Amino acid sequence: MVWGIGASKKDGAKRKGWLDLGSPGLKQDLLWTLIQNVPVAYSIIDKSYRVRFVNDQMLRLRRLERGDVLGEVCYNLLNGGAHCQACVVGRAIEEGVPHRVLRKDIMPDGSVVYADDFAVPVNVGGQDMALEALVDRTLEMLIKEKTNAVFLEVIRSMIKLLEKKDPYTSRHCREVAAISSRLTQYMGLGNNAVYHAMLGGLLHDLGKLHVPDTVLNKRGRLEGWEMASIKEHPVFTYLILPDLVSLTAIRDVAISHHEKWDGTGYPNALQGDGIPVEARIAAVADTYSAMTSDRPYRKGMDHETAMAEIKKGAGTQFDPHVVEKFVQMVEEQSLDRRALIAPEDTTAFVQMLHSGRHVQRRITRAKGAQQGGRGQGHLADSDVRGLADSASFTGAILDATPATFMVIDECLNVLYASGGFARARGKTVEEVCAAKCFDAVGGKAAYCFEVKDGCVRCPAVRAFATGKQQRSLIREEFQGRTLYYDTYAVPVTLGDAAGNPIKCCLQILFDMTSEKLAQNELESDLRRTADTLYHFVTELDHGTTGNIEDVSDVVANLNDYLEKMQGELADMLASQGAG
Ligand SMILES: [Fe+2]
Ligand SMILES: [Fe+2]
Repeated sequence: MVWGIGASKKDGAKRKGWLDLGSPGLKQDLLWTLIQNVPVAYSIIDKSYRVRFVNDQMLRLRRLERGDVLGEVCYNLLNGGAHCQACVVGRAIEEGVPHRVLRKDIMPDGSVVYADDFAVPVNVGGQDMALEALVDRTLEMLIKEKTNAVFLEVIRSMIKLLEKKDPYTSRHCREVAAISSRLTQYMGLGNNAVYHAMLGGLLHDLGKLHVPDTVLNKRGRLEGWEMASIKEHPVFTYLILPDLVSLTAIRDVAISHHEKWDGTGYPNALQGDGIPVEARIAAVADTYSAMTSDRPYRKGMDHETAMAEIKKGAGTQFDPHVVEKFVQMVEEQSLDRRALIAPEDTTAFVQMLHSGRHVQRRITRAKGAQQGGRGQGHLADSDVRGLADSASFTGAILDATPATFMVIDECLNVLYASGGFARARGKTVEEVCAAKCFDAVGGKAAYCFEVKDGCVRCPAVRAFATGKQQRSLIREEFQGRTLYYDTYAVPVTLGDAAGNPIKCCLQILFDMTSEKLAQNELESDLRRTADTLYHFVTELDHGTTGNIEDVSDVVANLNDYLEKMQGELADMLASQGAG
């Protein structure tokens, strides 16, 4: 992205009012306005890690005073005097290329700040430095954390339900999860498959909640209707598990664990590769666990006999490749039954997979910080303004700021738009700059001028009226998708090419679509889980389950939990102003 529109210089004269960003001072004004107002925390750090410049947002985010920061060594302020793990600043200066990392910082008061941490090399007065930009990602990550917590609680409750209904089935499910995840890992199918195998295993027989106790624990031959009832359990597992995106693959594994390689299994008589691979693995684990378990009416088979039985089923009941790998793993690692069923830490694994990669640190000040060159050697505001003429600096600011911009005049004509702004709307910069701002975002004038909570939604209109910075969450429809932008409007007076002052508004747009989607998804997950549980409970009766009270308790507790989460989510969104 480049400041100044090539076209504006060339064609600017054709259209009155276009900003000529080549004019001296104007680019500085705009860049400075941006640095001072954009909700991105900027700092400039030199080779010896001294902080030479910070904007207000950096002070707010780190809860520091400007006088304590300038001239201080950055890791004295944040990391107790030791170099930060995965420091992007040092690497950016050393290697001369941008670096990026997602950080989770635990503040001294215990609150958590997630930030996308960018460092871009810049040249300041002949010295190599880094521009560091921190973009707050706390809301998105907190929603993710909450989604994880809810998900794990749902899984935990399902396991508890099964335990209340039938302790044998619950133990068997744990064994299947352990064997399946071990084998999936051994087969090198990747973390996602291991995750499906693990949770698919844990929940595969959940549907047995609907099988009467008398049938489940019957000694001897099952009658026709009893067999039919048993055979329904994979379908019931599928139905009991809430219809959540995060559970789709797990439901598919659970419903298919009694399918057979030769197509003679149930409930869908799937065949060969048509059965999900995690379910083909679960089928082997399921049979092994069932054969080797002691039941009140028979003793479990020993390990060797069970392995021989599994080998016999290769190509008919089981995927021959899965059996081959199972046998290979057992022999190679000399596993017996006890080693095969040793449980894995499901919670840790799920958290690792869901929360993504980030660096975590506790913010601590070094003792004796601020002794060094406090307040010395920092860049004056005019020095930083002057950097607007440095292509490397301007480029760094724009590249490290995941936002798009436009400048509009009082008649809402677009005078300038960043390349990213135009691209996000499938237009060229020229097209955007030939229009009113609401045309540029898809002709949504009615939406922009809608009055919400007593004020016009469009933050630019409010900024012109009040002369103060304004903020709104703006919705846009683009190619069938709904996009959300956290939009800041900053009133600013700029000079046109002839030096005449024009009252303008700098609009800075942050894409909040992923945050909004995560929020919507969590809200609907909470609702759907509660609905599914409600239906499940209303279908229970004493004839099926002896200790129905215990089972109902688990469901009621989970419902309370979901309700509490719904409240917490609403509070969190209100406090973060992301409504
Ligand atoms: Fe089963
Ligand atoms: Fe099973």
